[in-house]
Amino acid sequence: MANWPYPRIVAHRGGGALAPENTLGAIDTGAGLGLKMIEFDAKLSADDVVFLLHDDTVDRTSNGHGAAARQPYAELGALDAGSWFDPRFAGERMPTLVQVYERCARHGLAANIEIKPCPGREAATGRLVAREAAHLWASAGVPPLLSSFSFDALEAARDAQPDLPRGLLFGAVPNDWRAQTDALACVSLHADHRKLDARLVGEIKAAGLFILAYTVNDPERARTLAQWGVDSICTDRIDLIGAGFLA
Ligand code: G3P
Ligand code: MG
Repeated sequence: MANWPYPRIVAHRGGGALAPENTLGAIDTGAGLGLKMIEFDAKLSADDVVFLLHDDTVDRTSNGHGAAARQPYAELGALDAGSWFDPRFAGERMPTLVQVYERCARHGLAANIEIKPCPGREAATGRLVAREAAHLWASAGVPPLLSSFSFDALEAARDAQPDLPRGLLFGAVPNDWRAQTDALACVSLHADHRKLDARLVGEIKAAGLFILAYTVNDPERARTLAQWGVDSICTDRIDLIGAGFLA
């Protein structure tokens, strides 16, 4: 990938801090503020439906209980994933990847699909998310950017759909970042912005990788990261750091 085709500002979990994470309402919120790209977390239900959820369990972000990996999508998709955030969002669901694709297409949003496997389901999640993403986004102008903290998930995604761009996610960037990103033929490295400095950003860029920093909620910090060479930032504060912020 010679040029980075993605917008510079990415709404974290769809609508950042302004809506219940990983819902269609969050995507509408991000799009309503003019954002051009969203990040969201994708995993598998017990019956292998790709859907959006951050945690391993549904407790924090819905009115349900227990491990997502043990529940079929018919049950997961019936839960209320909005009221915990605000009664205004009552009735929001944990959407399928199909529904998310359709909403992104309607709004003209680029997508960063974070593959967030339930424990033990790393390879299956990487494979199925990549296959479905390639199918859904087949005629999209910009391909979805797949990312994951899980090397195994991203490896399975690469094997299933080598042409979809990949970014390896880190908290602190480990010393062997280059060996890992090379092994996965990544186009980008995604890191906790607090662990980045000008020198490290320079080294990663010199290796030919693009950089996405998360989760940047301070406008001044966003400017500093951009000056160092960070290509995109993922933010919860889409009210402060809007689509044109780094333009
Ligand atoms: O992809 C960036 C960011 O979403 C990674 O952290 O825990 O919010 O999924 P998390
Ligand atoms: Mg995420």
